[in-house]
Amino acid sequence: RPLFDPVPPLPALYTSVGFSIFAFITTIHLVPALGPAFVKAGLHGRDLLKTYSTAIPESLGLVCASVYILLLMLFIPFAFSSFILDHKNESKPQEGISVAQFPHYQLSVYLSSLLSLLIATILGFLDDVFDIRWRHKLPIPIIASIPVLMVYYAERGNTHVVVPLPLRSLFGTLVNLGPLYYVYMSLLSTFATNSINILAGINGSEVSQALIIALSVILNDLLYLPWPMDFRIPLHLLGNKAEVEFGGVWSAGMAHGSRELVERHLFSLYFMMPLVAVCLGFLYHNWYPARVFPGDTLCYVSGMAFAVVGIQAHFSKTLLLFFIPQIFNFILSCPQLFGLVPCPRHRVPRFDPETNLLHPSKAVLVKPPSRLTSIVLHALAAFGLTELTLHQTTGSILECTNLTILNFFLIRLGPMNEKRLVQVLMCSQVAGSIFAFVVRYGLAGLVYDG
Ligand code: UD1
Ligand code: MG
Repeated sequence: RPLFDPVPPLPALYTSVGFSIFAFITTIHLVPALGPAFVKAGLHGRDLLKTYSTAIPESLGLVCASVYILLLMLFIPFAFSSFILDHKNESKPQEGISVAQFPHYQLSVYLSSLLSLLIATILGFLDDVFDIRWRHKLPIPIIASIPVLMVYYAERGNTHVVVPLPLRSLFGTLVNLGPLYYVYMSLLSTFATNSINILAGINGSEVSQALIIALSVILNDLLYLPWPMDFRIPLHLLGNKAEVEFGGVWSAGMAHGSRELVERHLFSLYFMMPLVAVCLGFLYHNWYPARVFPGDTLCYVSGMAFAVVGIQAHFSKTLLLFFIPQIFNFILSCPQLFGLVPCPRHRVPRFDPETNLLHPSKAVLVKPPSRLTSIVLHALAAFGLTELTLHQTTGSILECTNLTILNFFLIRLGPMNEKRLVQVLMCSQVAGSIFAFVVRYGLAGLVYDG
């Protein structure tokens, strides 16, 4: 039995690799070339963690987003090249037949994704220029995800979740979340866009997160491509019950073996490979000491790219596993984001110019905290997630360290320089991805049986 019938359009994948190399070269050249134009337009910022105060060009993520989106548009004919080639030699296609055969559904997947990326770019850039308020920027990605959700609906996308074994007696094997699943997916878009943006402030942090997540998604996609048999066998030997039944690493492609599954992951690859390329090109200039800043534009575009591939290629839950540091940072940030604890404009670590080291930065509680705030902060302190400064006599909280993962690293590991801190962040992101793969393909069999 042929494993994949018919063979999906893999040549387009090589074209996508070519486009990505082009994206990398373009970004690495354009970013420094356009920097001065951004400064001239007033788009610059001071590096908060340096002794010098030169104007550093900001929002250069716009250059990345432009290169990325334009190349994705240029790639459209190639993504459908197999169809075009198949039909080129047809002498006179009968009216209507070709039209019916064209993969319109896939085109709408592609176009709706581009639409979401464009809105993310606009939003990110507006945020760079106007500093949009939280309550205004949260709903926009949700609205921006509607085209993608509609396409998901059009294909009767799955809205079921598999119930873990221990809960089956209560809920059964599958639960249909219905509309709630759509709510979850639209929240995913606002989470992915904002969570990278709030894990920021040290050179290279935003773009390295995007880079590592994109690489993880690519690795996951590659597992679903129709590799020659020999590639599959060695890993198959490692296979256990879980692998075979749940669609583990190599059996994932085989078990389902459908052209559809391969095509979904190809789509994800078409969107992720150029993203890796622009992120790499940008990281070169944003690495410590940064010559350019990404601005919110880069965070929003890359976040939205992850959300759309997660939704369109149907692996949104696996995708969330690649966001472990962002989820941790978001949950830890909640007291500050939702007004329980004061949130200064910048929560970046404190820079000591004498030693060139970073220390946890602090938020000052101007008035005595409410009972709830005290309880939350004491609980976080008990877990070593924050450090408190207490009033000597009354014992009420005067200051706490800002609730971010960067400060958490500094509390746990001690003061370090900026470059080391971004390396620690990158290691945690890689560790998160390794954990994600173990959970998704290794442990899933313990919790799910199929
Ligand atoms: C988010 C964070 C904020 C953090 C900021 C840093 C929340 C709720 N918001 O705000 O705490 O301080 O990102 O990006 O967590 N900058 C550097 N070095 C860098 C990158 C940025 O000093 O490597 C500074 C520059 O002054 C730059 C500014 O941060 O101009 C950009 O901040 P912006 O992205 O506008 O902040 P927010 O995303 O609103
Ligand atoms: Mg930002």
